[in-house]
Parts: sequence; structure tokens; C-alpha cells
Amino acid sequence: MNSPIRVCITGAAGQIAYSLIFKVANGEVFGIDQPLILQLLDITPMMGVLAGVEMEIRDCAFPLVQKIICTDDPTVAFEETDYAFLVGARPRSQGMERKDLLKANAQIFKQQGEAIDKKAKKTIKVLVVGNPANTNCLICQTCAPSIPPENFTSMSRLDHNRMISQLSERLNVNNDQIFNVIAWGNHSSTQYPDVSHAYVKKSSGEIQKIKEAVNDDNWIQNDFLVKNQQRGAEVIKARKLSSAASAAKAACDHMHDWVQGTSKDKKTWVSMSVLSDGSYGITKGIFYSFPVTCEDGKYSIVKGLEIDEFSRTKMDLTLKELTEEKEEAFTFLKI
Ligand code: NAI
Repeated sequence: MNSPIRVCITGAAGQIAYSLIFKVANGEVFGIDQPLILQLLDITPMMGVLAGVEMEIRDCAFPLVQKIICTDDPTVAFEETDYAFLVGARPRSQGMERKDLLKANAQIFKQQGEAIDKKAKKTIKVLVVGNPANTNCLICQTCAPSIPPENFTSMSRLDHNRMISQLSERLNVNNDQIFNVIAWGNHSSTQYPDVSHAYVKKSSGEIQKIKEAVNDDNWIQNDFLVKNQQRGAEVIKARKLSSAASAAKAACDHMHDWVQGTSKDKKTWVSMSVLSDGSYGITKGIFYSFPVTCEDGKYSIVKGLEIDEFSRTKMDLTLKELTEEKEEAFTFLKI
């Protein structure tokens, strides 16, 4: 048996964590031979709820879970951490301005970045889920200068998965027959769901470009695009709560692929928000969702894809939003 790894999950008393913790504990991310120490962080008023979550984890009698630490102190939660899912964030309350939301979250992710810098293993891998995820990730990474910047990522996998699901429904194929969609940019309503490079493997074995298989540019550029951009709002309207199980599944997919690797032939990719290296004309120093492949615990941005004019406009729009978010959030931090 391997020695245990330390996995920190923040927002541990919340909705997403209520799915995520149990999937991680069951070996769905790090493997069924990998024992775990769970380090669960939430805020002080939620410690009672977190105690209930802890009881349920114990009652599952997971073979892999060696220890559970519940805390409201980030310096305890990030002690020697190998992997962190930063799910906890300040939600937008009624009447709250976007600026106030950015400000509240900037403080949270600054504090957590500093705790990671001081306490976590230098090899830690961090996935930020809490919104505004891309900008929160940038703040956290900036406040943890002793950790390599490539060890920070934020989540756009839910957008990626939503694209696959919509396309498989439209084309009447299984989800695993759709390849190489891309969610570009911010995890927000400006994200750009791009199918220009995507393809479908039909039951006959035939491979067809999504654009040809769908054969309806209007649907791709309007209905499909808007449905993806607005899917979160649609779920909230129906469920009266935001996406939780699908977000937890996406977080597991993201971390799983980062750690265990994507397809060996590097011909298929996933979407991940990572620090831009300037690829595709995206300003360096911004967490932007790109197509990536992963191998040996490292991601690489897929290079050289052709970008048409429609895509360029959409990619620039979401970049503009991220640039503004960055400027605004950093004024609160005086970084
Ligand atoms: P929730 O409100 O049910 O849970 C959030 C938890 O975070 C609460 O228990 C809260 O007390 C805790 N929290 C707040 N501040 C904290 C801090 N400083 N340290 C530790 N914990 C803290 O929310 P839910 O549904 O679990 O969503 C969590 C976040 O994930 C939200 O920001 C949501 O917008 C975001 N999200 C992101 C998605 C993505 O694709 N990137 C998809 C869906 C949700």
C-alpha cells in the first residue's frame, strides 16, 4: 500500500463538497490503492455542519481514509498538503455588487495562498473551484510565490463536460464519442464554447468533424453557445440551488486527468484554466481556460490550433473580462 497523501478540501460543509469529498474518499481521483488524509476547511460558523459531514464520512467506512481533520484554520488545513480543492468562496448575496464579491473573495484567496505558501508541500497541486474561479486562482497563486505557478489551475471542466453532453444529445451518440471540444477563457457567461476542432466517432467507426455532423452553424453559434454559457443559471432556476454534483464530478475529472494523465497519444485534450504563457495571443499572467494535455503530473497547452475570426472575437471578449477582473481584484490587495 502507498503512503497516504494529504488532500485539502475547502468549503467542506457546502454543497459541492458534499459530493466531492465522498468521491475523493472512494478513490475516484487518486486511485483505489492510494490512502488519504482528508483536511477539511470551512469557516467557524459552519463547524457544526462540518462535524455532521465528518460523521457521514466515518459512517462510510472508506478503506482509503486514514484520518480526517476538520478545521476553520487555513494553516492547519494546508499543513503538508499534496492536493487542494479550493471550493469554499463567498457567494453573491442579494444586492451585492460584483465589485464587493471580488473584494470578499480576494481576501479569502489571499489568506489561503499565504497559508499554502507557508504550510503546504512545494509540490502541491491546487484546483480552484470557488467563483470567480479564474481570478481567485490568480490571487491565490500570486500569494504563494514559493510554489511553482504551474501547480495552480482553476476549473472549466464543468463547461467542457456540458459541451460534450449537449453535443452527444444532439447527435444521438454516447458522451465518450465526442472529442476535443474547448471551453476558452473565463468560467462565466463570457466563456467561449468552441467546437471548431471537435469531432465525433460514430457507431460505424467513422470520424466526423462536429461542424459537419451537426450541419447547422446557426445552432452552433447561437443556441449551443448560449445554452452552455447560461447552463449554470438554468440549473439554479430549476433546482433553486447551484450545480453541485456536476461541479464535483468535473472537479474530480480535472484533478484525475492532471495527476493520472490524459490520453497517451496526446491527440485528445481537456479544458483547464491555467496561467497563460501568451499562447493564442492571450495576455500572460492570467488564468485562462485552454485546451491541455497532461502527462506525468504536468499539463501542456495544446499549441498551433487554427483560430477563425468568430472564435477570435469570442476569445478576446472573455479575455477582456478576465483582464478587468484582475485589475479590480488586485486593487483590493495592493499587489
Ligand atoms: P456552498 O455555499 O454550498 O458552499 C460553500 C462553502 O464554502 C460554505 O460551507 C461556506 O461556509 C464555505 N466558505 C466560505 N468562505 C470560506 C472560507 N474563507 N474558507 C473556507 N470555506 C469557506 O457553495 P457550493 O455550491 O458548494 O459552491 C462553492 C463554490 O463553487 C461557489 O463559489 C460556486 O460559485 C462555485 N462553483 C464553481 C463552478 C466552476 O465550474 N468553477 C461550478 C459550480 C460552482
